Amino acid sequence: MASSKSKGRVSLDERFYLSADDFFPANAGLGLTYDDVSLATRYSEVLPRMTRLDSSLSDALALSLPIVSSDMDTVTEHRMAIAMALNGGLGLLHYNMGEADQVAEVRRVKNHIHGMIGDPAVVSADDTIGQVLARIERDGLAFSTFPVTSSDGTLLGLLPGSTVKERHGQRKVVAVMIPRDKVFTVAEKDLGKDPIATADRKFSEHVGQNKLLVVDAKNKLRGLFTLSDIERISEESRAHVRPTRDADFRLRVGVAISVPRTADGEIDRARLLAHVSALIDEGADALAISTAHGHTKGVGDALRMLRKAHKGITLIAGNVTSGEGVEFLAAAGADTVKIGQGPGSICTTRIVAGVGIPQLTALYVASRAAAKKGVRILADGGITKSGDIVKALTLADAVILGGLLAGSREAPGKLMEINGKTYKEYRGMGSHEAMRKGSAARYGHSASGKFSKVAAEGIEALKEVSGTVDQVLGTLAGGVQSGLGYLGAANLAEHRKRARYIRVTPAGQREAAPHDVIEIKAGS
Ligand code: XMP
Repeated sequence: MASSKSKGRVSLDERFYLSADDFFPANAGLGLTYDDVSLATRYSEVLPRMTRLDSSLSDALALSLPIVSSDMDTVTEHRMAIAMALNGGLGLLHYNMGEADQVAEVRRVKNHIHGMIGDPAVVSADDTIGQVLARIERDGLAFSTFPVTSSDGTLLGLLPGSTVKERHGQRKVVAVMIPRDKVFTVAEKDLGKDPIATADRKFSEHVGQNKLLVVDAKNKLRGLFTLSDIERISEESRAHVRPTRDADFRLRVGVAISVPRTADGEIDRARLLAHVSALIDEGADALAISTAHGHTKGVGDALRMLRKAHKGITLIAGNVTSGEGVEFLAAAGADTVKIGQGPGSICTTRIVAGVGIPQLTALYVASRAAAKKGVRILADGGITKSGDIVKALTLADAVILGGLLAGSREAPGKLMEINGKTYKEYRGMGSHEAMRKGSAARYGHSASGKFSKVAAEGIEALKEVSGTVDQVLGTLAGGVQSGLGYLGAANLAEHRKRARYIRVTPAGQREAAPHDVIEIKAGS
């Protein structure tokens, strides 16, 4: 309670709506999570659209959107990591894949040129227009203009959509294509640090062109920009989405690493350091040691090894839910500590092992320990709506999302249709299937063990497909901005200071969701 102040001077609001340092200690011994608590609104001169959500995971890694995609094999591979960084957040690549594959995934993110289609569909000069039409039909292509290349990728010309008609079916591509010297191209080396701006300028200078082909010094096709993509992206950048980029203008990416062990159970130092060096050489910006129990000797030893070998890299470690756990990982070299044991939508750790702390209480304890040690914390798991993020950010520097992103187009995994609805698989890294693929060590089991005898700590599930990451994050960021507006906070530092909490009863929780109506259209 605000007991330190003399009773007469404490306002009514101050007695009911408590700051974190009054509220959580007053509820010590009680495990509170997002729905147990609501935030009080405060006097505001801040419109949601004026708010900034900038945060950071270390002094070297700033984010303009405090959202990280989870290092799960049904959430983050390169497509998700690219989409996260383009939206100002960060993707953490999972480690249920071979070491060389993980390095290749980092390369894909770091080499991604936004707006450029890196492997455009091409046709060969000897194809007939009839064959091209058949391919468009077979692959369901929504376009009919194609670069024409030889078998070694050399650019020979451009087949314009206007010629791809049944009436020309018998003709060969070579007879109707725009020849190489008339094709609108740019040399890869001239794209510069900001390829979008370069492409945008070139389209403005050449009226009527709507495809710009990128070639290397040997005239090999390297990619393709379309006018409509560039216009959409330029519009987005005016909407203040600032991608997470490194000093060389490449997208940033984080990587979860599993700690290899020798036959006698010791950390395989040589193999760990070789893999990490390969990741860093490719440009990895952050490394995460992700385990279900981070307050352990093994995680501490691995962290110390990495910190010693790579002084400047951003290190994320977890998961813990205690102040001592945060201090332990901070002392071992972590910049950011992941908080969450058992809150995830696919987690069964609390049921199986009987351990774990509800998220808000864990975040409060962790945040105070983190402040003492000068490290950041990530709220990992259990977030099901933007309001949960608003609450998490009163204590944490950023949030990790699994389930909210697993249904998006950029998440790995095939689509499946059930009763007319489309779904994607989403599974816990502690589920039998994921552990079989490699994540067993995360839960303290041997990768070669008999999984039928090991207690799974996660389930396999489905998520309804939810559109693109841009759409999902756009909606979530809008909700978070509304939250800041209600608290009168222009940024996250003010948000943390202005947060006032109150417990919510089960009746209050019921009141908080749509009720006593027949819902005909979901709110988001
Ligand atoms: P959400 O709620 O966003 O949670 O789907 C994602 C987070 O859950 C953690 N995770 C697990 N926890 N068993 C667990 O107890 C599991 O099998 C499991 N798989 C993932 C992880 O921290 C993730 O970011």
